[in-house]
Amino acid sequence: MGDLIFLDNGATSFPKPEDVYTFMDQFYRSFGVNPGRSGYDLCMETGELVEDTRKLLTGFFNGKDPDRLCFSYNSTDALNLILFGMLQKGDHAVSTTVEHNSVLRPLYHLQQFYGVEVDLIPFNDKGFIDPDEFPKKFKKNTKLVAVNHGSNVIGTIQPVKEIGEHCRKHGIPFVVDSSQTAGKIPVDIEDMNIDVIAFTGHKSLLGPTGIGGLYVGENIEIRHTRAGGTGVRSAVRTHLYEYPYRLEYGTMNVLGVAGLNAGVKWVLKKGLHDIHDHEMKLTKMLRDGLREIDGITLYCQDDLMDHIAILLFNVNGLEAMDTGTMLDVDYNIATRTGLHCAPLVHEQLGTAEIHGGVRFGIGPFNTEEHIQTAIQAVKEIAESRRK
Ligand code: ALA
Repeated sequence: MGDLIFLDNGATSFPKPEDVYTFMDQFYRSFGVNPGRSGYDLCMETGELVEDTRKLLTGFFNGKDPDRLCFSYNSTDALNLILFGMLQKGDHAVSTTVEHNSVLRPLYHLQQFYGVEVDLIPFNDKGFIDPDEFPKKFKKNTKLVAVNHGSNVIGTIQPVKEIGEHCRKHGIPFVVDSSQTAGKIPVDIEDMNIDVIAFTGHKSLLGPTGIGGLYVGENIEIRHTRAGGTGVRSAVRTHLYEYPYRLEYGTMNVLGVAGLNAGVKWVLKKGLHDIHDHEMKLTKMLRDGLREIDGITLYCQDDLMDHIAILLFNVNGLEAMDTGTMLDVDYNIATRTGLHCAPLVHEQLGTAEIHGGVRFGIGPFNTEEHIQTAIQAVKEIAESRRK
């Protein structure tokens, strides 16, 4: 059996660029202290790296004010800060069935324990949300719209700019989860009418796990839902109101920030266009190969327009988990099977009943050879099923 073929880049990117490993090692050996807590050189230099990374990411998302770029641990963490900090009893929120549990579960909690009303708009048979469905759901008490930019299950890129236009017209804050898109396609908050963007560092931004964040637009206020150390103005009794402190609590993951800094720089050097082009070329090759195999179901993947490098399939008659185990054990190919923390996508596809699907997630370091091996592996599994 050959080396591991990693096709689980929807869960996390692996490997990371060499620059990320090298910079994290150098940084942590030389500057790995607590930023913003003291005035000695090392502390100041660590703080500079954090502030440089805020600027880098603010530019990356086309924000205006680096202080409104706050670090968190991942998208789920950022989305919890956003949803619990923007919605309260009596409010109404609109979201979609494409969402990951990072949005769905906070919304369910808000619904169940805080009396927030929630409407979820389903996707169409190609996997897209119709922007014109949003205004139909808006009410007097609608205080937030939250949408997943790229589906982690079926790979569709949602028309966020058009959804954002509706939100702007009605004065409703628009939150976007860019977990699967940031680092693959442009996420321009200005152009896309986005008010708050949540991101994670360990997927296509190619940093390590445990670092993510959010950018909060100038007209948006997010209430504190936590409180603690900020490193500055310690005598103030409540958590600080000014950004970025407002949404940062305790010692931050500076090693994560360093890795994210190197990851984003690698992405910018390579270029989003080249990364996405490479990944989509491989995704099309995979789709074409899988289409040729009898006894396979591919979901929502007809033309791969407005798509990221994610494909969901099942070998008919096999549990997704079993297909995934065969790919792993017999072919050394890593995929993710099951419901992918996005149960409503599977409910709508009808795959929830069969415990989900098998997901291929292609990354910048995958090759044509990986894809051909994966196609051959699926072919053999499907053939063995028919014998
Ligand atoms: N959200 C990640 C995934 O889709 C973990 O696998």
